[in-house]
Amino acid sequence: MNVASVGIVGAGQMGNGIAHVFALAGFDVLMTDVSQEALDKAVALVDRNMERQVSRDKISAADKKAAMGRIKTTLKLADLGKTDLVIEAATERETVKQAIFEDLLPHLKPETILTSNTSSISITRLASRTDRPEKFMGFHFMNPVPVMQLVELIRGIATDEKTYQTLVKVVEKLGKTAASAEDFPAFIVNRILMPMINEAVYTLYEGVGSVKSIDESLKLGANHPMGPLELADFIGLDTCLAIMNVLHEGLADTKYRPCPLLTKYVEAGWLGRKTQRGFYDYRGEIPVPTR
Ligand code: CAA
Repeated sequence: MNVASVGIVGAGQMGNGIAHVFALAGFDVLMTDVSQEALDKAVALVDRNMERQVSRDKISAADKKAAMGRIKTTLKLADLGKTDLVIEAATERETVKQAIFEDLLPHLKPETILTSNTSSISITRLASRTDRPEKFMGFHFMNPVPVMQLVELIRGIATDEKTYQTLVKVVEKLGKTAASAEDFPAFIVNRILMPMINEAVYTLYEGVGSVKSIDESLKLGANHPMGPLELADFIGLDTCLAIMNVLHEGLADTKYRPCPLLTKYVEAGWLGRKTQRGFYDYRGEIPVPTR
């Protein structure tokens, strides 16, 4: 199947990055969210991020202009029904995702492929509540989407080969690399990454190291581009906690129990960069550790 147009549900951190890479790769993009303000903010952010790429000679000003011209927004979820591929990138809560699919289904073309950018929720379960489990897949981008090379492709139990092969080609057209993951809790990247982040929070909780020494250790001692606590703030501590809970419940192994300190930060509303406070305080000129 030829995919020319893509509908994106959710204009947040992931949605705007996904719109960015699809528009640059020549796809027509239609993005929706619940408020015009969120949509305007997302388009402005894509513009800024593409401008950064122009200034670093990654893309030309003409590429940017053409790509920005391919991004349209709408407040009506139903408008996405006419696109060839829908990517749901809404909040990481199963009830929210299900409600979106329910509202969208009556408007979809029969051949439209339906995907979710979920970082951990069962694709088979999400698919089973739609009218097209064979055309449903997990399509998991990494943050920041324009920079990260990997896309995880997750087949549910009913996903057909044609749908999978179509998405493999879409990923190639984006200039990214696909990794196939089986549909088990948190797939590959987060199955490995989140327990590491959770362990870093335990290391802090037990007083083995400070925020600074933990992050420096992994940056300088293991060549990670960001320390685990800095990365947790970047991803969002609520997302990290949600994924640990999916691992803990889905695999029923105590080794995945979320650190109580991670829970406490989330309870405080200190969710990382997006709320300006997490393991670091971002309200000043430079990030300052909060412990
Ligand atoms: N859009 C476009 N370009 C961007 C960008 C964006 N949003 N953010 C950064 N860039 C570009 C910069 O322009 C720069 O380009 P050049 O190499 O051409 O100069 C490059 O990325 C590096 O950026 P910076 O120089 O500003 O900063 P940096 O060197 O500190 O790198 C980083 C920033 C790429 C985010 C790096 O710190 C990094 O790789 N961190 C780890 C990110 C990571 O692990 N992501 C995965 C999270 S897990 C996930 O997403 C899955 C999940 O479900 C939770």
